[in-house]
Amino acid sequence: MEKLEKLRQEFDRRLNEIRDAKSLQEARNVFLGRNSRIMEIMATLKDLPEDKRKEFGAKINELRADFTAYLAKKQAAITATDMRDRLQAETLDCTMPGFNYQPGCQNPYWLIRDEMIEILVQMGYEVYEGSEVETDYYNFTALNTPNDHPARDMQDSFYLDNETLLRSHTSAAQAHKLQDNPNKLIKIITPGKTYRRDSDDATHSHQFAQIECLVIGKDVHMGHLKSTLRTFLNRLFHQDGEIRMRSSYFPFTEPSVEVDMTCVKCGGAGCSMCKGTGFIEILGAGMVHPNVLSIAGFDAEEYQGFAFGIGIERVALLKYGIDDIRRIYQNDRRFIHQFTAKTGE
Ligand code: FA5
Repeated sequence: MEKLEKLRQEFDRRLNEIRDAKSLQEARNVFLGRNSRIMEIMATLKDLPEDKRKEFGAKINELRADFTAYLAKKQAAITATDMRDRLQAETLDCTMPGFNYQPGCQNPYWLIRDEMIEILVQMGYEVYEGSEVETDYYNFTALNTPNDHPARDMQDSFYLDNETLLRSHTSAAQAHKLQDNPNKLIKIITPGKTYRRDSDDATHSHQFAQIECLVIGKDVHMGHLKSTLRTFLNRLFHQDGEIRMRSSYFPFTEPSVEVDMTCVKCGGAGCSMCKGTGFIEILGAGMVHPNVLSIAGFDAEEYQGFAFGIGIERVALLKYGIDDIRRIYQNDRRFIHQFTAKTGE
């Protein structure tokens, strides 16, 4: 009995020293664990005479129940203190100013690209996205520009190996579509990135984007090309202007034309932007060359078509009055956010 009394006193002292979860667990091990003091005393029970054993056993159980209850109480107190400390440490100050997450906005490149695609889709075109990595064959040869053709020099690109390059124009996608659909009607646009070894300046970039348009049918003529361009460009620039075609050269179209449209700044009256002509150059176009159709497996006697290719960033420059194409890629938020204001997003 004396042993039990001593153990209780020892427990009381220890209980007062418990301050945190760690010291609580240590006390639990010492007084209630498998190798605890209680267990040690229990082990001596068998040495007691029969008549003492029952009473002593009951006392041990009582002590163990007390230890368990006190430690549980202590545990609850420590948990409450921990919680209080944590709440105090994590106090939320509702009066503090919040973070200013400025909503993002679209780069003018994407604004224009989406607008152009939307107009052309409304005009009945299907979007066909080609690949930025192309073979020399689809970028040039299938477009009537064989290996030794001087027109290849006009579009010097980035070659990955002797056969593969970053496409220099979206016309490469046109070649795929033609070869996959010989003697079928086609009406597609192919938006996407293109690459050329052009020196970067205010209007040129080594990486830019184009939208190519291709129509193939049985009685397609220049009149269709002209009215398509007039409708598309007037809707894009929100004007009721004219277009003008100047004879030009692309190996994959015959005839080929450079297309001018009524100046978006002066409406045709003549200004510094159009150098007094009332027109500005906007894209290249033409009737698909019969050789291109034949290479793709079309009956070039029966099928004809038109195509044009327009630079997306150049449209952004014109439409938003941007002075340098490089701004589109520099990701200066002060620049980009101006277009949020313009579109009201
Ligand atoms: C072509 O790329 C022809 N494939 C277009 C075409 C398609 C003609 C179908 C006939 C039939 P061009 O090299 O002119 O043509 O480029 C077309 C447009 O891409 C240009 O009008 C211009 O807007 C844009 N562009 C060309 N080079 C650059 C450059 N370095 N940086 C930015 N835009 C460019």
